[in-house]
Amino acid sequence: MDKLLIEGGVPLAGEIAISGAKNAALPLLCAALLTREPVTFTNVPKLNDVGTMLKLLAQMGVKVAREADSVTLEASGLDNPVAPYELVKTMRASILVLGPLVARCGEAKVSLPGGCAIGARPVDQHIKGLTEMGAAVAVEHGYVHARTTRLKGARLFTDMVTVTGTENLMMAACLADGETVIENAAREPEVVDLANCLVAMGARVSGAGSDVIRIQGVASLHGTTHRIMPDRIETGTYLCAAAVTGGNIRLTGTSASYLDAVIDKLMDAGCEVIQERSAISLKAPPRLTAVSLRTSPYPAFPTDMQAQFMALNAVADGTAVIRETIFENRYMHAVELIRLGADIRIDGNTAVVRGVAKLDGATVMATDLRASASLVIAGLVAQGETLIERIYHLDRGYENLGQKLGALGARVRRVK
Ligand code: UD1
Repeated sequence: MDKLLIEGGVPLAGEIAISGAKNAALPLLCAALLTREPVTFTNVPKLNDVGTMLKLLAQMGVKVAREADSVTLEASGLDNPVAPYELVKTMRASILVLGPLVARCGEAKVSLPGGCAIGARPVDQHIKGLTEMGAAVAVEHGYVHARTTRLKGARLFTDMVTVTGTENLMMAACLADGETVIENAAREPEVVDLANCLVAMGARVSGAGSDVIRIQGVASLHGTTHRIMPDRIETGTYLCAAAVTGGNIRLTGTSASYLDAVIDKLMDAGCEVIQERSAISLKAPPRLTAVSLRTSPYPAFPTDMQAQFMALNAVADGTAVIRETIFENRYMHAVELIRLGADIRIDGNTAVVRGVAKLDGATVMATDLRASASLVIAGLVAQGETLIERIYHLDRGYENLGQKLGALGARVRRVK
């Protein structure tokens, strides 16, 4: 299994391009299930999660053609609306095929994703919504089995804000009979990107980006070409990496408009951030100031940036209080950061991080995608060598991480 060896202490400097967003790409690829016509996506990131999704779609009978950063999907021969456990267990976002499959085929059999490192992550809201739209849903032998003749428009209210839940129900509603209203909808930019693509495919969706989304069902959708939005979490991760190393970087092909809460905290920490139309530059101060934060659904501070900010606070001046309100078990990076010399105390969903003057390199273990990113950030500022094990998590969500960090001057190497 590959590991990542980082020799810390180099301030990041230079310019790199940000890739297409993983969390936009995954639902968008599933949207191609809604039509017989080809749908082409550009700016598709080369990530293991994207590869898993394409494999999942291919075994359902979808034709997949991939060239450079574009993917064309044609679901005219869709004949097997099943998502098997072997694929779903490696990627929870596989549940995103459920809504489109029921809407298009009148049937879907999707393995329950099960728990994952950051918490239980049930899919009850996805099931509740489809049931309210008239599907008969049974959970049997570890699979969600949904059947219907045609979904019916309905007024849906999710008990909590769920991103993939909103996306699944929005896609399902596009081919339903009548109007669907999703209340308490997720407002994430990736939901908006998906809605824009659906509209380009002929769907009648309005309100995406607010907490009430309205969808007038249509009989069929058609093909389109859609450019995937930039990855705001990849953007935020490199900004944090530059901030902790006292660096000065420019990220192109991205936009600060999706990152207000994160940029606000970086500025509170003492960084100078310059926003252009499709680029962001960051210049770090000699020492960062600790910043407290609380994760919440968009537009508040994203849970997917919590781990990276814990690494940042580990070496900042002062004490930060972090509250994680989305996932119950998302502090597994803390014990690894402590192995590098960080002073972190966890009490329930609260972490108290007292900044230390320096971290020392050590061998650490990546436990999930964003936890891994926080260990990379810590390794970049730690003195000496940090060896990160199990970096397959990083390959799921960061395109060419080693090369991009290398281009910014970091001393990073993949080792067997
Ligand atoms: C998405 C993102 C993930 C991010 C998360 C929160 C994708 C592919 N993944 O995950 O990177 O960390 O949003 O911003 O976009 N919940 C339920 N029942 C449900 C659905 C959710 O109880 O049916 C709970 C979850 O356990 C969690 C909270 O709701 O506590 C939010 O989860 P949700 O927004 O659904 O996360 P994902 O869509 O899986």
